[in-house]
Amino acid sequence: MERYIIKGGTPLVGEVEISGAKNAALGILAAAVMADEPVAIDNLPDVSDINVLIDAISEVGANVVRDSRHSVKINGGTITSTKADNEYIKKIRASYYLLGAFLGKFKRAEVPLPGGCNIGSRPIDQHLKGFKALGAEIKIEHGMIIANAEELTGNHIFFDVVSVGATINVMLAAALAKGNTVLENVAKEPHVVDIANMLNSMGANIKGAGTDVIRIKGVEKLHGTEYSVIPDQIEAGTFMLAAAITKGDILVKNVIPKHLEAITAKLYEIGATVEEYDDSVRVKGNEVIKPTHVRTLPYPGFPTDMQPQMAVALALADGTSTVTENLFENRFKYVDELTKMGASIKVESNIAVFEGIKEFTGAEVNALDLRAGAALVIAGIAAKGFTTIESVHYIKRGYEMLEKKLQKLGAQIELTSSDKEIQKFKLKVG
Ligand code: UD1
Repeated sequence: MERYIIKGGTPLVGEVEISGAKNAALGILAAAVMADEPVAIDNLPDVSDINVLIDAISEVGANVVRDSRHSVKINGGTITSTKADNEYIKKIRASYYLLGAFLGKFKRAEVPLPGGCNIGSRPIDQHLKGFKALGAEIKIEHGMIIANAEELTGNHIFFDVVSVGATINVMLAAALAKGNTVLENVAKEPHVVDIANMLNSMGANIKGAGTDVIRIKGVEKLHGTEYSVIPDQIEAGTFMLAAAITKGDILVKNVIPKHLEAITAKLYEIGATVEEYDDSVRVKGNEVIKPTHVRTLPYPGFPTDMQPQMAVALALADGTSTVTENLFENRFKYVDELTKMGASIKVESNIAVFEGIKEFTGAEVNALDLRAGAALVIAGIAAKGFTTIESVHYIKRGYEMLEKKLQKLGAQIELTSSDKEIQKFKLKVG
């Protein structure tokens, strides 16, 4: 069982290179199967969710050539099955993008009900509403979603909630539907725009991604392309917060500063300094972290995927702060773990109240989900003494070589697979 062992107390200083955006790459990989020609994708993050989806794409018969850790060529022309089902694909959330991609291309698809981190009930009614509006029939049987259509026809669809997944999924299917589709009340996240750009580079006709309304003129087929995934705003934000929390100084490279504005604004509020450059940001932590209030919202609001990392800063602030979680009801699972490290946090419904403490003390904690896991890693680096973090597999879903990047910034952290390795680390760092 892999665990992180951390000796805390080191301010993180130096430069870090941000990988490609996991959540954009997942949609882009699904889009790639929609052509019958090679699609070359670059700047893929080397994380487990991506590797699971690539394996599933290969298993349905697509020709997949993994030219390097960060690039892949996919030719969907050889696909023999529209059913994606293995024990790994069941566990990731983005398996559902194969539904939109297969339905668009083959008018039929069969994928497992999606897994992903247990951060709330995570329904997919809006995805299914969109597919039905395009003319698909949907059945759920034995844990599988089965979609079939004689023909997909463009339609006017108003989403009841702003959903990243539903926006991308219905956009994928509508790209190859007959006629025009208008999607209203859509998500505006940078990865929605990235996937629309990628589809357009394959010959799709999608306008408006990044606004509330996306207009799609269906095309008959999509062709090959070469595409590079945008940088991961959440990985970048995690390192930005790490600088503030450890009172360090990090140049976060290969980012799009515009995508980080909500995070940057909160960093200013808590007293950190942020300098923006063309494709990097430098964050310097301040001795005193000021308290503030955070509400998660769809983009351009403060991202729910940054809420746990922000919470770590607020737990160390000089005063009382609050976090209101508006997207997922189960996103405060890290609270009990941070409490083991000395934090003082009370949760009532979707609001957490933080009474700032001076310092965390190292403890044995459990990652519980992807972003909560990343938050605990940063907390461990700021803490006094040793912290061990279990369930590292969650963190590996979305962070590429997190420990290596942190070591380069001066953190004393190691990925271990036995008690013996933990003892060795403790002896080494003293
Ligand atoms: C995606 C991201 C996830 C991020 C989230 C919000 C991926 C693989 N995951 O998840 O990291 O936390 O966006 O930025 O890209 N909802 C419904 N019905 C639906 C769909 C969603 O009610 O059919 C609700 C959800 O319960 C939630 C809200 O809409 O309250 C937003 O969810 P959504 O944007 O769909 O999140 P995901 O796409 O699952």
